[in-house]
Amino acid sequence: MASSTLNLCCTIEGASVEQQTAMDLLGKQFLLPDERLAAITKEFRRRMEEGLAADGKVLKMIPSFVTWRPKGNETGSYFAIDLGGTNLRVLKVTLNGKGGVTTEHQKFTLTQEAKSRTLFDFIAQCVETFLDDRNLRPTGRQPPISIGFTFSYPVQQTSINSGILVQWTKGLNVPGCVGRDVVRLLQDALLRLGLRVKVAALVNDTVGTLLSAAYNDPSSQIGIIFGTGTNAAYYENVSNVAKWKGANPASGEMVLNMEWGAFDSDDFAFLPYTPHDIKLDRKSINPRKQAYEKMISGLYLGEVARNIILWLADQRLLFDGRSSEILNAMWSIDTSYLSSAAIDNTPDLSEIQQIIEKTLNVPTSTMVDRRIFKTIAVLVGERAARLSAVGVVATLTKRLELLSKKINIGIDGSMYEHFPGFKEILAETVSHFIPEDKFKNINFSLAKDGSGIGAAIVAMLATQTQ
Ligand code: GLC
Repeated sequence: MASSTLNLCCTIEGASVEQQTAMDLLGKQFLLPDERLAAITKEFRRRMEEGLAADGKVLKMIPSFVTWRPKGNETGSYFAIDLGGTNLRVLKVTLNGKGGVTTEHQKFTLTQEAKSRTLFDFIAQCVETFLDDRNLRPTGRQPPISIGFTFSYPVQQTSINSGILVQWTKGLNVPGCVGRDVVRLLQDALLRLGLRVKVAALVNDTVGTLLSAAYNDPSSQIGIIFGTGTNAAYYENVSNVAKWKGANPASGEMVLNMEWGAFDSDDFAFLPYTPHDIKLDRKSINPRKQAYEKMISGLYLGEVARNIILWLADQRLLFDGRSSEILNAMWSIDTSYLSSAAIDNTPDLSEIQQIIEKTLNVPTSTMVDRRIFKTIAVLVGERAARLSAVGVVATLTKRLELLSKKINIGIDGSMYEHFPGFKEILAETVSHFIPEDKFKNINFSLAKDGSGIGAAIVAMLATQTQ
């Protein structure tokens, strides 16, 4: 869907006065004017500086120990593990030179047992399965395989292949891991299986995305995930990182993992919280954490929409006051339903009817109900895309000097790839805040599967530089 559709106003054809009044209120809450975004961006920049100066701040600005850039002509096969929120992928990444990459991967769904107890043993078993299925398991006489480990959670990195888990984010909450070195946990589990595999690099998914974009395009400076969660990493001059006490790298630069999903989580003062966001936050497994992420990313947007829908239904302004067991259950609206609703342009909004009546099991829906449903999807999506621009603009203006020549931003994640209009609104909103002669130098590119590919690249670079 083009941005013009997302920009539709909240006037609902056929709505009653009460319904229209409620929708106008939602419009006021969700359609953020540029001035509001400018104020949030200013605060975001201040928080970045704070995070560069000291540890333990809201924006963690974590040094990743990645101080190199790939040249793009590297060749060879490397391995990676990519742990996201619900899936785990083991990959063999073959770099073909000239930025070309082919991957062979296997996807595993995290079991309940893994999520609640045995995560690292589960990961090690997946690596074993991947290697054994392909006859790649190194024997006693062969050197161990080096593997990059993408771990998409906040880790206070202590070297390129060690780091302490600060907290779980998104849906995962495995006990006994916070405060421990996640590479040690994985390496021990690999040892228990007798696997000759060495974890050579620990990489956040944003760092992986940036490195994989950089392998394709040397002008890449920023890697972003707009997916289940959201976060960004960028190349920073080490001289700008006052809290960095380590040696100065030869390149003078290092990738920082911003952990921007946490923005505003300490005082809840700058983001445009509505009662629907507060309700979600309160009932989430991590209240008062990841405030920015909860307004932007795929894990949460369906739930924000569900809260709005129930708020309307409870006032008899939607579905004639009816709900269903499914709709009453938290998380029952997947963000992908919002994607489908936002692009439903059929005359009777039949896609939306299907979602309401079949998927959510609400007995019937009128055309007005469906129009309201669509508008909610659009509003929640538009707010997410415009707020996403805040982080991008703040990061770009931090390195404004880079914008005098072409720069590439590598982006991955389901919101960016699939949510209708998200990409367009993001880019358009960024253009409102960056001078035109500089904006034209920015290239937004999809870094598909960058997190896993990038981890393999970092493992390669880390091994070569040892
Ligand atoms: C969450 C994690 C972060 C990750 C992001 C995107 O915000 O804390 O580490 O990069 O999700 O997956």
